[in-house]
Amino acid sequence: MSQTTPTTTADEELILVLDFGGQTAQLIARRVREQHVFCQLVRHNLPASRIRELNPKGLILSGSPASVYGAGSPHPDPAIFDLDIPILGICYGMQVSCEHLGSQVSPGESREFGRTPCQVQQTSELFDGVAKDFAVWMSHGDQVQDLSDHFYSLAATETCPFAAVKHHTRQLFGLQFHPEVTHTEFGGKLLSNFVKNVCGCRGTWQISSFIEREVALIRERVGQNRVICGLSGGVDSSVVAALLYRAIGSQLSCIFVDNGMLRNGESDGVRERFSRHFKTDLHVVDARELFLNELKGVADPQQKRKIIGKVFIDVFRHEAKSIPDAKFLAQGTLYPDVIESGGAADGPAAAIKYHHNVGGLPSELGFELIEPLRDLFKDEVREMGGQLGLPDELIWRHPFPGPGLAVRCLGEVFEDRLRKLREADAIVIDELRKAGLYRTVQQAFAVLLPVQTVGVMGDDRTYQDVIAVRAVTTDDFMTADWFHMPYDVMERISTRITNSVRGVNRVVYDVSSKPPSTIEWE
Ligand code: XMP
Repeated sequence: MSQTTPTTTADEELILVLDFGGQTAQLIARRVREQHVFCQLVRHNLPASRIRELNPKGLILSGSPASVYGAGSPHPDPAIFDLDIPILGICYGMQVSCEHLGSQVSPGESREFGRTPCQVQQTSELFDGVAKDFAVWMSHGDQVQDLSDHFYSLAATETCPFAAVKHHTRQLFGLQFHPEVTHTEFGGKLLSNFVKNVCGCRGTWQISSFIEREVALIRERVGQNRVICGLSGGVDSSVVAALLYRAIGSQLSCIFVDNGMLRNGESDGVRERFSRHFKTDLHVVDARELFLNELKGVADPQQKRKIIGKVFIDVFRHEAKSIPDAKFLAQGTLYPDVIESGGAADGPAAAIKYHHNVGGLPSELGFELIEPLRDLFKDEVREMGGQLGLPDELIWRHPFPGPGLAVRCLGEVFEDRLRKLREADAIVIDELRKAGLYRTVQQAFAVLLPVQTVGVMGDDRTYQDVIAVRAVTTDDFMTADWFHMPYDVMERISTRITNSVRGVNRVVYDVSSKPPSTIEWE
């Protein structure tokens, strides 16, 4: 809920991931939570004394782009190895653990990258239920070359004799491969074995108990005051509103700003869903004209984002002032945002953000912040939404950027261009839904290009706009593949757009992945 609130209660099982900067550190935490065990990322060098206070059942040391022998490479507090808490080192995490206890790490003869056959050599609680031969995902140049007598090997690949190791007397395991990646067969089983067999967790963490605890915390903190929640129409803010509504009912006021950059029917949809699920105060601010005026003549994408962000804050501030007794502002900040912004008390330092969120509200608005989702991953937020009674259709909505259609209307933004984009976008989504593909892709939309092309209509030549269709599959929106959309669906989308959207005579499909492209066009 806030940075100072303890995230687990004393009797809750906790696993900590020490983050050495590897790309999959967050994924480790997600996979552990799938075992119903609460898991958080902390700095790689969190002092052993603090770890002792947090009282985790186990530690997982993540991978890293660094070499353990490189200058300035990240190392844990050596005292963690004497805490008598089970440890699993993954990739770099294994190397750093083995090195600390007398093994030699150096560059392997060849780098191992990708799916690799692996053979289990020794039975152990970590490999319970894992096949003797299975495929693992490797991504390393260094490896443990000279294993100290403290350890023995559990598994090997052709070029890596110590693909998995165990300490003779301590509950310390190492995996050179990445169990958190889905390409590793039995990866989930390995992590479950560590968490349950080795650390003794029972797997009691559940969204339902998380909801109960947050509701109690919110009630206690808010007292008789009023809370404002900004609604965007998306999943996160809707779940925040639903949680707050459960906690404080009519002490909740919601603000929804119609900035004119919304999809077809969005404003009515928000009103309609709101009245179905909440019997409390809703402020819909129609600021379409204001936004459009400010955007007049602006074609530069970053400039558009800036203007929309600034006007949004002004409009929101003005509306919030009309709610006199409000003391708190609720926001749908998620755990990945907290980690990436370096905002967690014991968490890793800030990492480079890949995109620029617009719609965040500055602290000078003068409210105390309530962020009840700051410990949750997106899939957990969806689960929470379901348990709070929100409909599937809302829970599984594709993400929509804060600056809205402005960054999909390439070039200058004005009403007739937005109309074309809205109509085309509605067709794309409608056809994907009809084909049962809406949830197969994680994001899909139309883009209005800033070029005109020649076409024919009857006997006449036309010179009109082009719509690009974008559909991607992705796990985390950091990387994405373009969706291999069935031709018949493409055909229906194209035909409907060119037949019914006035001013558009051509449709193209975007076949670029991220990287090197981004998901949005601007
Ligand atoms: P890109 O285009 O960076 O998008 O590959 C990754 C994800 O971020 C969303 N996105 C934004 N969201 N404000 C937002 O709130 C923005 O300015 C913004 N730009 C991109 C995008 O829709 C995708 O889900």
